[in-house]
Amino acid sequence: MLRGTKVGLRARHDGDIPVLRTELYDDVVNAARAEGGPWRPITPGSRDPRLVVDDTEHGSVKFSVVELEGGSLVGTASLWGIDTHNRCAHIGLGLLPSCRGKGYGTDVVAVMCHYGFVVRGLHRLQIETLADNAGMLRSAERNGFVREGVLRASSWVMGEFLDEVLLGLLAEDWKPDGQF
Ligand SMILES: CC(C)(COP(=O)(O)OP(=O)(O)OC[C@H]1O[C@@H](n2cnc3c(N)ncnc32)[C@H](O)[C@@H]1OP(=O)(O)O)[C@@H](O)C(=O)NCCC(=O)NCCS
Repeated sequence: MLRGTKVGLRARHDGDIPVLRTELYDDVVNAARAEGGPWRPITPGSRDPRLVVDDTEHGSVKFSVVELEGGSLVGTASLWGIDTHNRCAHIGLGLLPSCRGKGYGTDVVAVMCHYGFVVRGLHRLQIETLADNAGMLRSAERNGFVREGVLRASSWVMGEFLDEVLLGLLAEDWKPDGQF
């Protein structure tokens, strides 16, 4: 398990799947905002790749996020679009509604930076988020990500086009907090 100050990132367990499906992916607005595609329901028991991890898939790594204290599930995080030639990848995360606003998002980004830069030897990490997602923008910027551009009206979300912000962090600019 990877440890931050508040959260741990571990493998997906079977018991996580119904919780993530119900609390994250069955929430139409949350899913539409987070996924960059049209919402559709996930059938219980299906092998939906957002929930069920394929360990042979090398382009992405999915984690379940847990509280360090007590070990309860608080969300999901992924390193996706891993490009081993250009040594870059994207970070995605989603926390259960009751677990937002407690500093976990900032800590997840910190742990994902450690995984990307130290464990995987990547040189650049990237985050894309809707321009009105203040919590995600702040979680990224608290970890040193800088806004590199705005993709105007790039996301169709629940009846309107919204801007996305692209944030990037290079390994040489990363200043880990010292917790690793
Ligand atoms: C976005 C998300 C990951 C952020 O994680 P979080 O744990 O809620 O964020 P944190 O508690 O670490 O807060 C980080 C900062 O953002 C601020 N913040 C958090 N939520 C906010 C909100 N809704 N509005 C304004 N500011 C907010 C916090 O005050 C904190 O600021 P500080 O560093 O000055 O203290 C989480 O809210 C979430 O999962 N949301 C739904 C899914 C989603 O949007 N995923 C990202 C898709 S790209």
